[in-house]
Amino acid sequence: MLIGVPAETTAGETRVAVTPETVKKLVATGHAVRVQSGAGIAASVTDAAYQAAGAEIVDGAGAFGADMVLKVRTPSEGETALMKPGTVVIGMLNPFDASGLQRLAGAGLTAFALEAAPRTTRAQSMDVLSSQANIAGYKAVMIAADKYQRFFPMLMTAAGTVKAARVVILGVGVAGLQAIATAKRLGAVIEASDVRPSVKEQIESLGGKFIEVSYDTDEEKEAAVGVGGYAKPMPASWLARQQVEVAKRVALADIVISTALIPGRAAPTLITEDMVKAMKPGSVIVDIAAGKGPDVNGEMKGGNCPLSEADKTVVKHGVTIVGETNLAALVAADASALYARNVLDFLKLIVTKEGGLKIDLEDDIVAACRVAHDGQVTKK
Ligand code: NAI
Repeated sequence: MLIGVPAETTAGETRVAVTPETVKKLVATGHAVRVQSGAGIAASVTDAAYQAAGAEIVDGAGAFGADMVLKVRTPSEGETALMKPGTVVIGMLNPFDASGLQRLAGAGLTAFALEAAPRTTRAQSMDVLSSQANIAGYKAVMIAADKYQRFFPMLMTAAGTVKAARVVILGVGVAGLQAIATAKRLGAVIEASDVRPSVKEQIESLGGKFIEVSYDTDEEKEAAVGVGGYAKPMPASWLARQQVEVAKRVALADIVISTALIPGRAAPTLITEDMVKAMKPGSVIVDIAAGKGPDVNGEMKGGNCPLSEADKTVVKHGVTIVGETNLAALVAADASALYARNVLDFLKLIVTKEGGLKIDLEDDIVAACRVAHDGQVTKK
């Protein structure tokens, strides 16, 4: 099959959907790979490295003109127009963006959104949300350490003792767990909150402390179980109790890393303006949910903190609030390497050994990821 890999054009996107390692594997299994010139530069991959792996270097039209197009971000209107009907496009295609899916369907594309893969053991090697959230959790701590004007570890020096930083993590999915592990390695003292009590053990195994909030009603207990590994919106009664407990910790914290998300919904508000006001000057919030939650005017420009501003770092009430929305793109080389392996593993489900396309809708991963086909939006 002829596979095209365009350069990403979304602002701030540094990642690329193939690496020389995955190109080599695709070529070895009989595919022809065309990579747009410069597609890998921001991820430290040169055209020469792709060529050495067996790819042909082409222009944008050449990459989009292939039978199958591998992308990181969903194609723009202009990019969609470069693909012929029947092209298979694979990427992070925003399965909750109805108008975007309609655009792909309208162009007659067969589109697979990798974010829609189920959270099952078999799907793990192609789980782009996990591979990229893991990087985001790590980078969030790196940025916090950079912005924070004190040490993370406790230090005993001849000039006196320095206290360890107190880090609060809100939302302990993939990003939150990596943030705990990374902050722990730097020597911080960590507390973490999540709606799902099942994460308590994971937090403790990484050396953090779970912020306990009781589940008092059947409704609260049922919601806390979540669905498919994801959180469900919690009843207001539980969120109010959580806020009291979290507010106490945030007031004492030096760093807050918030990652709380509910798929297809607005990110919950966990750090109110009053909580920010109660934080110490010089504290840092890294809001991984930036751009996905309500701001002070109720517009979806905030994050878990309504004072967060998407893609900006602001100082409010003496607290630095980082609203970077694409943290994985700041670790472009490794983010691309892991993403490219996710894509390659997904391809194995839809391409036969002979190199032909075989879309088996009995396969739960293939069926879940297929969001457009034959002019129709087919999102499950
Ligand atoms: P996510 O990015 O959708 O959400 C991040 C975290 O925010 C979640 O832990 C969620 O429970 C939490 N959250 C939501 N509302 C909150 C609130 N009001 N307060 C505090 N926390 C709140 O989650 P992610 O990282 O995508 O992980 C989802 C689940 O999938 C996790 O249980 C993870 O362990 C599981 N998973 C399973 C895999 C597998 O078995 N193959 C692979 C990857 C993840």
